Amino acid sequence: MAKIRLDRFLSNCGAATRSQAKKLIRQKRVSVGGITVTDESMKVDDDCTDIMLDNKKLVLEKYVYIMLNKPRGVISATDDKTHKTVTDIIKEEHKGLFPAGRLDIDTEGLIILTNDGDFAHKTLSPKNHVTKKYIACVSGLSYSKELAENFAQGITADDGTTFRPAILCLIEENQDNTVFSVEITEGKFHQVKKMFAAFGGKVITLKRISFGEIVLDETLPTGRYRRLNEKEMKYVNTIKNNRIFMEGI
Ligand code: URA
Repeated sequence: MAKIRLDRFLSNCGAATRSQAKKLIRQKRVSVGGITVTDESMKVDDDCTDIMLDNKKLVLEKYVYIMLNKPRGVISATDDKTHKTVTDIIKEEHKGLFPAGRLDIDTEGLIILTNDGDFAHKTLSPKNHVTKKYIACVSGLSYSKELAENFAQGITADDGTTFRPAILCLIEENQDNTVFSVEITEGKFHQVKKMFAAFGGKVITLKRISFGEIVLDETLPTGRYRRLNEKEMKYVNTIKNNRIFMEGI
């Protein structure tokens, strides 16, 4: 048990953002132990079960799961001396979360932030084959059936790294670049870039659009985040209950 500020308790419950929580408290809509509170900085126990918003009891969840649409230029770490990190983006509301997996600094798209080490470990474990889907804009490489077959068979990169079978599809072919979707079940360093490089392609832009059954919310602008919804949480729980092995490919 630890003490946290009341406004943080509300935001950590998912009841409001931190600034909304301050407003709700000032509007006398929050009570602790039956007494209306107007001081947002009041310290409460994080396991307190006697906090109400209007007539609804609020209970702090042990684990928090956030979907972030990571912008380019931000690194997938909890702190860094020179670059903005994914946790800097969400820190105002959520302390103590970390990214479940990594995206390169120049990759954008879906990243899950959580304080649940078990979930992170299970999704990242190579044993679990969680499928991640990317949209890659690539120069110097056109789509062909043979290329898709090569991806489907598994690739060895120029540096000798081997990659498991992946699903490659064509999205569009422009004059200068080709846009592909690629689904992989690992998370090796620079994996997608290396897979295309093995055939002479250079990834110009890369965006992750899904992580297992969690799909990047199209209404979430770059740099914005939200909690996972009920359907997405069902998937999290499936992973945590370990019923998921060998998805997809
Ligand atoms: N593959 C890459 O090359 N980079 C990423 O950020 C993710 C997958």
